[in-house]
Order: sequence, then structure tokens, then C-alpha cells
Amino acid sequence: MTIKDLLKNKLSQKQLENVPSAFEIIGNKEKAIAVIEIPDSLKNRKKIISQAILEKHKNIKSVLEKKSARKGVFRIRSYRILSGDKDTEVIHKESGCFFKLDPRKTYFSSREGTERLRLSENLKNNENVMVFFAGIGAFPIILKKVNKTIHVSGIEINPKAVKYFEYNCKLNKVDSHIFKGDVRKIVYKKKMEKKYDRIVMPLPESSFEFLKEAFYCLKNGGTCSLYCFSKEEDLKDIFNRIRTEAGKDSKNIEILRTQKVLPYGPNIYKYRIDFKVI
Ligand SMILES: C[S@@+](CC[C@H](N)C(=O)[O-])C[C@H]1O[C@@H](n2cnc3c(N)ncnc32)[C@H](O)[C@@H]1O
Repeated sequence: MTIKDLLKNKLSQKQLENVPSAFEIIGNKEKAIAVIEIPDSLKNRKKIISQAILEKHKNIKSVLEKKSARKGVFRIRSYRILSGDKDTEVIHKESGCFFKLDPRKTYFSSREGTERLRLSENLKNNENVMVFFAGIGAFPIILKKVNKTIHVSGIEINPKAVKYFEYNCKLNKVDSHIFKGDVRKIVYKKKMEKKYDRIVMPLPESSFEFLKEAFYCLKNGGTCSLYCFSKEEDLKDIFNRIRTEAGKDSKNIEILRTQKVLPYGPNIYKYRIDFKVI
């Protein structure tokens, strides 16, 4: 029986048509949460819809409604619990790894799991990899699980995400250097100059603002994977922006790859741009 079947006698045909057919599930087979967006036309039916979700998926213990876009430095949304448990901490399973997290306290997107795995395909043995904006540790942990020869480090500013990052390293038996704080301060304080073969920058709203720090840390010949939002036709402007930043540090770059990651808005996508310092 589908969620719409469960709602058949409770909603009109028109309302049924507007019930979202997909939503994000974070967690595992025992305990998960559903993150849902419900249109305004169903504003008095949210409770009924969330209860149908709980009835259909026995592992879903809470239904959260998105109440805002991601915001602030920590990139967290506001949520409202429509039904279920107030405790929204879960252990999410992805690519054989386990991630403890609470989406009300830290950034996490299960939709990015494919990309984390795809990025790991580019790794070379023994690379020294630094993940700026590491969150709960999903990138460093997946990368290290896929290629055990690499060394991983991460920097994260949200103290709650750092706690989960530390916990998740233990949970997955992964060794990672974890730096708590602002990328802009940490890289200089810890004197990481020319130390890394690869820098990963998963902060698509403002990765560009941290290129100076990336160039400071990257070895000559090293690779940077920068995430950004862009229209396809504007990608050349982004390449130029990276070249300009490199020039400020007397460096040249070569664009290695442009990977379309996920749709973001009308004609806008999240992209990964891999470039090499030459
Ligand atoms: C888009 S999230 C990505 C998190 C993680 N890499 C993932 O894929 O789940 C960006 C993360 O960067 C962190 N962040 C934002 N600005 C930062 C800064 N200046 N220094 C360190 N971390 C920062 C936020 O707290 C957030 O956890």
C-alpha cells in the first residue's frame, strides 16, 4: 500500500495529487527520519500526511518539515517536527559507512552519497587529502574507506558537527586529523603550507572565497575539487575566477574535469570542478 493509498479516504482527489511523492530519508532500517516539503495547498493536512508516512515506513520515527533554506555559516535548515519522536539523532548508512548525526544540529544531505563515492574514484595511492568544510566527516570517511592508503584531514567550524565527525571516525575505524575552527584561521595557524596533494571544498555557496587558503595548502602538482552552483553557460566565468585567484599566488592551473553533481534550480546545477596547480 502506498502513502497515497493510505490517504485516499482522508484527502480529496485534488489534495492527493499534491502530496509529495518523494522525500529524503536519513537513517537506517531501524531508525530513520523523513524530511519533507509540503505545498501550501495542503497546509491543514500536514499532520495526516506525516502520520501516513510513519504508518507506511515502520523505520521512520520522525517526520520533519523543511521550514527554511539552508542558512548561516553552519548551513542548517529550520525544521518542524510534524509527527513522531522529538529525538532526531540517527545513524545513516552510506556506501558501507555509518554516520551519526542530527540534521537539526549539523549539515547533512543523503543525496550527495553518489558524489562522495564518485570523488573517491579519482584518488591516487598515498595522497594526503584535506577536506575543508568537513561537516560530520562524510567525505573524509568515505574517501579513506575506499582508499586505505590515503591520509585524510578535515576542518569544520560547527562544534556539534565536529563531535559527530570524531564519533563517526571511531564508528568506522577511520583515522583522520580533525581540525575544529574556521578554514581561514586554521590553515595558517597550523602552518599547512604546501602539504596536501588534494583539497576538497564542499561549500558550493562560497567555496571561491577560500581559494586563497586552498592554494596556500596545495602542493605544486596537487589537485583541488571545488563545488559550486552554476549555469552551464557560466562555467567559463568560474574557470576564470579560479585562474585569477591562482594568479594572485603566482600559480597556474589546469582544469581537469567538470562534474555535474545535482540539479539545484532552474537551469542551475551543483558542479564539481577539479583543477590542478601547475
Ligand atoms: C555544505 S556543508 C558540507 C558538509 C560536509 N562536507 C558534507 O558533505 O556533509 C558545509 C560545512 O562547512 C562548514 N563551514 C562553513 N564555513 C566554514 C569555515 N569558514 N570553516 C570551516 N567550516 C565551515 C559548515 O558548518 C558545514 O558543516
